[in-house]
Amino acid sequence: MGFGVLGVFLGLLLEVSTHGPHAVPRTSWRHQDLDLMEFSEPEIFNYSTLLLSEKRDALYVGAREAIFELSKKNVTVKNNKVQWTVAENPMVMCTQKGKSKERDCLNYIRVLQVVDDERLYVCGTHAFQPQCDYLNLADFSLDGRPEDGRGKCSFDPSQSFTTVMVDGELYSGTSYNFLGSEPIISRYSPSQSLLRTEYSTSWLNEPSFVFADVISDGGNKVDGEDDKIYYFFTEVSVEYEFFGKLLIPRVARVCKGDLGGQRTLQKKWTSFLKAKLVCSMPELNFVFNVVHDVFILKGADWRDTVIYGVFTSQWGNVGLSAVCAYNMTAVEEVFSKGKYMQKATVEQSHTKWVRYNGITPSPRPGACINNLMRRQNVSSSLHLPDKTLQFVKDHPLLEDPVLPIGNGPRLITKDVNYTQIVVERVRALDRNIYDVIFTGTDKGVLHKSVVYEGEVHIVEEIQLLKNSESIKNLLLSSETRSLYAGSDSGVVQSPTAFCGRYLSCDDCVLARDPYCAWDPHTAACVNIFDAPSQRLRKLIQSLNGDADKCPSASSLPLKDYRRVTVKPGSSAELPCLGHSNLAQVMWKSNGSALTEASRFHLMGENSLLIYSVAPEDQGQYECWSVEWAPAAGKNFSRLLAGYVLTLDLPPRAPHQAGHVATTLGSQETSSSHAAEGNGKTERALLTSALAPPSFTATVHLTSPPQTDSSLTLPPSSTIKFQPKQHLPPSSSAPRPDSRDPAAEYLQHNNSTALLFLFLLFFLLFLAALAYNCYMQYLPAPCLRLRAALLGTQKSAHQPEYRACEAGLMESSATDKITMTEQPTQNGSQTTQSLRALRDTGYETEPECGNGQIPSKEKPFDVDCESQPIQFADADEPYC
Ligand SMILES: *[C@@H]1O[C@H](CO)[C@@H](O)[C@H](O)[C@H]1NC(C)=O
Ligand SMILES: *[C@@H]1O[C@H](CO)[C@@H](O)[C@H](O)[C@H]1NC(C)=O
Ligand SMILES: *[C@@H]1O[C@H](CO)[C@@H](O)[C@H](O)[C@H]1NC(C)=O
Ligand SMILES: *[C@@H]1O[C@H](CO)[C@@H](O)[C@H](O)[C@H]1NC(C)=O
Ligand SMILES: *[C@@H]1O[C@H](CO)[C@@H](O)[C@H](O)[C@H]1NC(C)=O
Ligand SMILES: *[C@@H]1O[C@H](CO)[C@@H](O)[C@H](O)[C@H]1NC(C)=O
Ligand SMILES: *[C@@H]1O[C@H](CO)[C@@H](O)[C@H](O)[C@H]1NC(C)=O
Repeated sequence: MGFGVLGVFLGLLLEVSTHGPHAVPRTSWRHQDLDLMEFSEPEIFNYSTLLLSEKRDALYVGAREAIFELSKKNVTVKNNKVQWTVAENPMVMCTQKGKSKERDCLNYIRVLQVVDDERLYVCGTHAFQPQCDYLNLADFSLDGRPEDGRGKCSFDPSQSFTTVMVDGELYSGTSYNFLGSEPIISRYSPSQSLLRTEYSTSWLNEPSFVFADVISDGGNKVDGEDDKIYYFFTEVSVEYEFFGKLLIPRVARVCKGDLGGQRTLQKKWTSFLKAKLVCSMPELNFVFNVVHDVFILKGADWRDTVIYGVFTSQWGNVGLSAVCAYNMTAVEEVFSKGKYMQKATVEQSHTKWVRYNGITPSPRPGACINNLMRRQNVSSSLHLPDKTLQFVKDHPLLEDPVLPIGNGPRLITKDVNYTQIVVERVRALDRNIYDVIFTGTDKGVLHKSVVYEGEVHIVEEIQLLKNSESIKNLLLSSETRSLYAGSDSGVVQSPTAFCGRYLSCDDCVLARDPYCAWDPHTAACVNIFDAPSQRLRKLIQSLNGDADKCPSASSLPLKDYRRVTVKPGSSAELPCLGHSNLAQVMWKSNGSALTEASRFHLMGENSLLIYSVAPEDQGQYECWSVEWAPAAGKNFSRLLAGYVLTLDLPPRAPHQAGHVATTLGSQETSSSHAAEGNGKTERALLTSALAPPSFTATVHLTSPPQTDSSLTLPPSSTIKFQPKQHLPPSSSAPRPDSRDPAAEYLQHNNSTALLFLFLLFFLLFLAALAYNCYMQYLPAPCLRLRAALLGTQKSAHQPEYRACEAGLMESSATDKITMTEQPTQNGSQTTQSLRALRDTGYETEPECGNGQIPSKEKPFDVDCESQPIQFADADEPYC
């Protein structure tokens, strides 16, 4: 049985990693090919806090022990800098507590927020004693009157953390103690005392905060409701029973007007509620359960707001990242109407979370104050009845999950770990609005994707950072049309589009970039936001990649073919530049596809190498790109390069050993050359590729090519190219050109090892599971299996954690369940309770509150009274 489960589970992983939907970026831009603006200072690291000023031309950067003001038009321009170091005393205290002087006991600037036009509020970890101060923008100096930063900023620079400033009040998600073990969501305002979360595992359980922002009704307050602050984090689940820690992505929210309770929940949130964020592939039972970053794309109305999140799986070796989008209306619905969960005691000591089906107190626990409540004389959270407050204190978790738009990810990508996301809404020339998704990876690469009719297309991948390091922060400015990325080693500014790099109309249209369009007049790919409005109607853009809209490229006159002359018996290399990873390159000679010949060989970057040129090899050579545009349902072919190869038959045959290879300049030369040709025609590309400045002939005196059997193609094989490989994870590592891209995706050796490890782990896991089930520590999954066997389907929307529970479900056999039930129960009672289970579909959640437990001999010893909050024990050596 165990092997069956294993098979299913492994099969699932394999299926997901090999056949699961995932996208490939069409174009890859290398760092050295782009002229990005970069900023860093020697000896300064960790440029991880960024703030764009709306009013000023400024990008504020918080780094380690320094704050910078850069020009947001050009981040290489530094306008101001202030240093904020740690004094002797706190440094000594920090090192005495066992922290490293070089790493931990420094001041990492982690909060940069606008207070008003003149000041920023800044906080730093300050040698594990967080401090905050005001930064005067006029002279770019700190006030020098630091405040206690506890609850506003993390102690530990490597701990996850988020803040947002709303109307002069600082909302943070961080930890409140030195050890980082007391998580807190708090609000600091200069005039009030800190409002915070209860210290309880049911409120926050080892959270990793990723994002927080305010959603405001924008003055359109029909029901008089408050603005709300949403927090996004991953935490350890309390509601799922799992072998080990099961992580769950969450959205939590608090109301801006919350003042805490009068007696219950004094100085604590009365409006803290949280729900599960679902990002899964239901058809494959695969769940992305770790959220890394969130971007809130705000619409004019809050109902148009879409929340984008990047997710990976806790089981990171699958190597998949996903982007899920959530409708704000759906989020709001869950918080305003969702069912609560409650903690129940099962079998004396064991607690589990079940749906609360009883009557909820009024006003609704956790709701923001609205006009209806005001009419009931509840005009602030201080007036909320104790019943409501006690309820929300015990039931902060909602049962209903927040489901993604379309019930699945917008984007799934393989072999990347996304760390950051920003999204921009772009109105393309077809008048439709497209969400362009920019995702940053842990290897310094940026992906730009666009959703077209529900299908995602990765337009480009851009190697933003010189080194393979994580993008720690990503901001977008529509005003400067730039992206700003912060990393440990510096700040990089990149344009949102690289239209000018597409040199032909086909390439420009096939890129399917909503920012770019082809201008037939100037024969250039232009940014539609740069184009004068009267020209817009003449531009060619087709987001489905239909390049037939392009003016038919008049075929290249023979005189424009580059003439290549080589000596008999030498080899010739004909370069071909194409940068679409989705295209296949095909070489033609004398008009027909190259089929024969051991003497033809494809080099990296699609160039053709002809060994030992013989008289019959003379003639025309053409490099064609054939690109499949799925949205248009067509192949588009275009000529990338053309050559006329002739033999140089000298009057006097030279007497020399070895082979002469003719090389047409290095890849670098030709590509940078091509880049200069922005705005030139396709022909310009050809000419530039054909006439590189460094036309050289080199003499290879060693190894005749024939001895290298790996370099020869089997006779009568069509010479076609696989799509180009992606950017190397590290720019410095040159990649072997002859590698099969398929190998790159699958990494057979790796996956066998992984599989083996996985197998081992899984067997251990099963054993532990069986034990736990046998000991009835895990009644829920055991029951769940039984329900599953009886045909109970969880609601179609909730298969997401089944994959994780697959083992649990399968390993706990049916008989376990009968054991769980009281042996005194007679058959009819069992059937009855089974039917009840099947009916609700929530077999783990006995109906408590309304007293509908099937019989006196209830299957569990469920305590239906509200449970007192379990406090985690405090550890605060600091206070
Ligand atoms: C940015 O500023 C630097 C330094 O002043 C200058 O060399 C560079 O040309 C500027 N880049 C752009 C794109 O304006
Ligand atoms: C700060 O940057 C250094 C150097 O790149 C890196 O080793 C370290 O992990 C970073 N620390 C944090 C907290 O990000
Ligand atoms: C969100 O859902 C609401 C109601 O179902 C719908 O009217 C709205 O168009 C949706 N918004 C988006 C951006 O999908
Ligand atoms: C609200 O308060 C007013 C004045 O104290 C009182 O007259 C009224 O009955 C109250 N209304 C409710 C619904 O409690
Ligand atoms: C993604 O991150 C995980 C965990 O940090 C790491 O093991 C894995 O190698 C990364 N994958 C890629 C493709 O970078
Ligand atoms: C191309 O055509 C020319 C003349 O028709 C011929 O001599 C030559 O061998 C052909 N070359 C190839 C590679 O077919
Ligand atoms: C498109 O081109 C590819 C590669 O040349 C080929 O395999 C495929 O059959 C073509 N599809 C159509 C519909 O022409």
